[in-house]
Amino acid sequence: MELKDFSYARTILEQYPPERRFLLAILQDIQKHYNYIPRPILEMLRDYLDVPLSKLYSVATFYKALSLKPKGRYVIKVCDGTACHLKSSQSIIDEIKKVLKIVPGSTTGDGKFSLETVNCLGSCAVSPVMVINDRFYGRVTPSRVREILEEYGRLENEQTWK
Ligand code: FES
Repeated sequence: MELKDFSYARTILEQYPPERRFLLAILQDIQKHYNYIPRPILEMLRDYLDVPLSKLYSVATFYKALSLKPKGRYVIKVCDGTACHLKSSQSIIDEIKKVLKIVPGSTTGDGKFSLETVNCLGSCAVSPVMVINDRFYGRVTPSRVREILEEYGRLENEQTWK
């Protein structure tokens, strides 16, 4: 995965007063920009908010939306809530595992895709459901999974996908 310049983190921090109540908001902004919470930025945050590193780690590990490990450029979230589970979300997860050779909670070696399972995404009527970054897919089938993933591969090769 491409190493980003951590200096932008300073700009993120300075958008907030150095008060502990902004901790989560800052972490969310960092996650959004870097796609994870890099250790050097946690150290910056420790100094900025005067919060022990252990506290920062416990917050960063508590919230599922935050990650201490770099995530893929495309984060695949497969819903495994009750409605999706009953509509065979496991077959979707199995297909992604087979195609990308990763398990939920991990990232492909080239840093392209991460796979996560989540609870209800609020669209049970079109279950099973998955989301890739901000793009939503309903009534997904294992064969559709293959098409969707191939589409991402093609789009990236054509460099038309951000
Ligand atoms: S259980 Fe999957 S969208 Fe509701």
